[in-house]
Amino acid sequence: MLQSPSRPLLCEPEAVSTWAEPYLDDLGPDDANISDHDVWTQGVPHATFARMRREDPVAWVDEVDGRGYWAVTKYEDAFRISRDTQTFTSAQGIRLEDMAPDELEARKTMMEMDPPEHTRYRRLVSRGFTPRVVNTYEAAIRGLACEVLDRALGDERFDFVTEVATELPMRMLGRMLGTSDADGHQLVEWGDALLGNTDPDFTDFPVGLVDTDEFRFMPFRSPATVEIFEYAAAQAAQRRECPTHDVISQLLAPTTDGTPLTDLEFKNFFTLLIAAGNDTTRYTMTHGLWVLMAHPHLFDTWRAAVLADDEALTAAAVEEVLRASSVTTHFRRTATCDTEIRGTKVRAGDKVVLYYVSADHDDDRFPHPYRFDLARQDNEHMAFGRNGPHLCLGAWLARMEIKVVFTELLRRVVRIEQDGPVERLRSNFISGIKHLPVRVVELAA
Ligand code: HEM
Repeated sequence: MLQSPSRPLLCEPEAVSTWAEPYLDDLGPDDANISDHDVWTQGVPHATFARMRREDPVAWVDEVDGRGYWAVTKYEDAFRISRDTQTFTSAQGIRLEDMAPDELEARKTMMEMDPPEHTRYRRLVSRGFTPRVVNTYEAAIRGLACEVLDRALGDERFDFVTEVATELPMRMLGRMLGTSDADGHQLVEWGDALLGNTDPDFTDFPVGLVDTDEFRFMPFRSPATVEIFEYAAAQAAQRRECPTHDVISQLLAPTTDGTPLTDLEFKNFFTLLIAAGNDTTRYTMTHGLWVLMAHPHLFDTWRAAVLADDEALTAAAVEEVLRASSVTTHFRRTATCDTEIRGTKVRAGDKVVLYYVSADHDDDRFPHPYRFDLARQDNEHMAFGRNGPHLCLGAWLARMEIKVVFTELLRRVVRIEQDGPVERLRSNFISGIKHLPVRVVELAA
């Protein structure tokens, strides 16, 4: 007999419960090479991570195309290391890829910095992303979400990813940056070419499949950066001539020590925002709907809560969607000195990779980690990183967008079902569902 949910139910207890377990049909093989992009096209290798957490929580991984790294898969270790920037630096790269010092310098953003240098850059934009500021965008986000959903729901069948989840995050980020709405699709295409740089659907130069050496000085080794840089330069010129209150104008203002960003720093910063603010939120929403459709009683429970204006359940459900999807699968650090993690010796210069997606399914931290519990309590997941200086800048914006999309969808739809197989991104870095065909069975009256 399964245990009762951790929180009182909102609806008839015998009709619905707030959780489904297991919520995934397939946890994958338990011997996958987690550094192989192709492995991730089959789904998150949860069974491999479960075995690693159990048998080898600080495991050496031979990379398909690199020098190998330590995979940290337990929550407690990832949590501690993300805070210890002295021993585990971000300044030598935050993805698996090794970069020569000149490449690193050319592509550097605040993500590849440690405090105090990092703090100086982060302060430039952090004001624009606080919960207080993000709350002021709620009406705009809701307006965009309603527009996007009403258009999509005009058809019985559509792809939730392309019609809904792709549209909202970039259009909203565009408004915050102060770029024109008309440029939204271009920004999405560029963002996809960056974070989807290993998937042939998103770039003609997929890393690992073709030679990308000529682009090694560009962010994400992506030729799209040439156009993004030109666009960013034009935006900067406009703001210098006519300053506004948007995020681009904030970026062009002098930093706390009085020096403005150099042109290259500004362009790299702009590129970082286009990359980070684009597909992560999209894939999180998609994962959430995918689970809800597989377990219609969860859809019903959340819908009842929305109709009853139960904001507490919606807030908890958003966190559970984030935990369960944990779409940025990992971030890397590099050991600055010889050290130990959980008794395993790590040498100075070794790559140490924090698997946030595994930490978020660690049963020492989350009881029943493969239970999708809309009302989960104590859900301090690592989907946005946690605890360290690099905690996601866009976390409150992403939360707001996910909340608004689900509440507006649940208001409008009584029943929706999956209408074909999902297609996954070829990436060991972003766990993404590229296509989720859906069929609307019943709209609300
Ligand atoms: C559900 C959506 C999102 C997820 C799962 C996510 C995930 C993350 C994670 C895990 C980090 C930590 C990196 C590290 O440990 O080194 C991060 C950092 C960052 N995120 Fe997000 N993110 C999301 C949405 C956004 C959005 C909407 C923006 C919009 C601007 C954004 C901008 C950033 C930036 C700029 C950083 C770097 C922060 C720093 O280095 O100080 N993210 N994100």
